[in-house]
Amino acid sequence: MSAEYPAARPRRLRRSPAFRRMVAGTRLHPADLILPMFVKEGIDQPQPVASMPGVVQHTRDSLRKAAHEAADAGVSGLILFGIPAVKDARGSAADDPEGILQVALRDVNEEVGDAVVVMADTCLDEFTDHGHCGVLTASGDVDNDATLERYASIAVAQARAGSQMIAPSGMMDGQVGAIRAALDADGFRDVPILAYTAKYASAFFGPFREAAECAPQFGDRSTHQQDPAGPLEEALREVRLDLAEGADVVMVKPALAYLDVIRRFRDEVEVPVAAYQVSGEYAMIEAAAANGWIDRDRMIMESLVSIKRAGADLILTYWATEVARRL
Ligand code: PBG
Repeated sequence: MSAEYPAARPRRLRRSPAFRRMVAGTRLHPADLILPMFVKEGIDQPQPVASMPGVVQHTRDSLRKAAHEAADAGVSGLILFGIPAVKDARGSAADDPEGILQVALRDVNEEVGDAVVVMADTCLDEFTDHGHCGVLTASGDVDNDATLERYASIAVAQARAGSQMIAPSGMMDGQVGAIRAALDADGFRDVPILAYTAKYASAFFGPFREAAECAPQFGDRSTHQQDPAGPLEEALREVRLDLAEGADVVMVKPALAYLDVIRRFRDEVEVPVAAYQVSGEYAMIEAAAANGWIDRDRMIMESLVSIKRAGADLILTYWATEVARRL
């Protein structure tokens, strides 16, 4: 029941900043934000990522410092990506206790692990010489079940290094269940899983491949990541499977091009929903801003508000520290 014009005048509540603030339906909070960070083995200076202005591949020292800044700004989580000095076909560095990601997890946990949730991406593409997210069959396909064994081992190595949450991103069938079983068997019953549940084979990941040095040397990821044109029900099936396998948080990725999927997840599930504002979303805004074509700060906030309004409880964003400070 509501009045019609002229009794109804929606503009009344938009009249001033005070009114708009009072009736805002979507409020971002620093604790909504999780910062993805890159750490590279064997460098002594942070390396800028050309396609992601403002993002760097960290040294161990610069990572500690940036982790502090993020924690002080109030973000609720950090997710680390490691770039090893040596890569091989099975991604051996990924579950090496002295591998860069495990070392960095220990460093960052020691530094800020009481204040924020420290975790790592659980995948193989940063660690394999062929750049795929799993081990390969003789014919060059990504071998689902052989990869699950690797993921289980990596998850346990990360948990032993102090990862407070495990975040499998490879889109192998059964990955959440395989990791849950391995964690439980190794005494990590209480370590939750943030599942990359609906992850699309997206061109928006382009700049990340420079940041994480993980471009596939042949082929692409479309045999395991979802087709952007696939039916919405496919994402719902993925979320049902991940929850049945024990996922504690479910994620949609990328974010801005998949707001409908975020909304459906929020309406369907009882666990927190995360969304990943990925490298290409970051790069588009930074590049347009560098050209003077858009208002950078407003566009960053508008993009994050829209992702939250779509239903994301948590947002992974490369702007996490900056935005948390601004809030
Ligand atoms: C896989 C992974 C990717 C991203 C996060 N985890 C790349 C891919 O699937 O190709 C992309 C993140 C981004 O684009 O910001 N380890």
